[in-house]
Amino acid sequence: MLVGIFDSGIGGLGVLHEAVCALPDARFLFYADREHVPYGEKSEAEILSFSEDITSFLAGKGCDAIVIACNTATSVAAGDLREHYRGRSLPILGMEPAVKPALSFTEGRVLVIATPVTAREHKLHALIDRLDVSHRVDVHPMPRLVQLAESSDFDGEAASGYISRELSRYADAGVGALVLGCTHFNYFAPQLSGLFGEGTALFDGNDGTVRQLARLLDREPATGPDGSFPEDSFDESRITYFDSGREVTDPGEKALFTALHRRFTVSKRYIYRRNPV
Ligand code: DGL
Repeated sequence: MLVGIFDSGIGGLGVLHEAVCALPDARFLFYADREHVPYGEKSEAEILSFSEDITSFLAGKGCDAIVIACNTATSVAAGDLREHYRGRSLPILGMEPAVKPALSFTEGRVLVIATPVTAREHKLHALIDRLDVSHRVDVHPMPRLVQLAESSDFDGEAASGYISRELSRYADAGVGALVLGCTHFNYFAPQLSGLFGEGTALFDGNDGTVRQLARLLDREPATGPDGSFPEDSFDESRITYFDSGREVTDPGEKALFTALHRRFTVSKRYIYRRNPV
């Protein structure tokens, strides 16, 4: 079984990581469109065109399912892509900001951070209008986090200063749940958690997307005692990486992805899971 996963860049690697842990018999093609990152500041026509090209590339490689591991591309392109591939038995999954689990988790406020495109797109607002009956959800765009992640500038002053400038005003506002509505933001989970403190749980869409992928492929996802996908099933040899269509074979370049998996293993500990230890 071959699964294609794509993102504008390295954000989707978190989804890939979870999927590799959850589906021990699958192989993966991971396509990071680093030539065109950030999608969150592009026009919708451009995002649609990039997403169509990548999906066609992955479909041409024989994928059994495709995951759009990017909230921005999902908002703009998922509907059109599903329509296009309808009838070709190629499931196309996307990301959904975890507003629903966040609202059920807390009676306090819920803050969704995302790219500017996701933050203004109809898809997110339709989701919030449907679920947020008590008007507890706020949305805040954080475009710079994408560039900081792409430059592996995770722990420096630039990231912590930006996070604090943008989000300090919410830190004492009774935010019970922070929703990471962009897959690049997971890398900053330690800093985000540090700013808001223990009273705020972090949610991402990775777990939900990977469970849906397993369902569509008719697989039971591997699950550890704490409810998360077990790290000991992770095996990087089941992944082929592409940087905007070019297969990554150079060991030096591959080392970046390997390091990001390690980073993600740490960051994911800050994300709320259904059965935390
Ligand atoms: N990682 C993407 C997302 O989940 C997009 C980031 C970007 O390219 O702006 O929205």
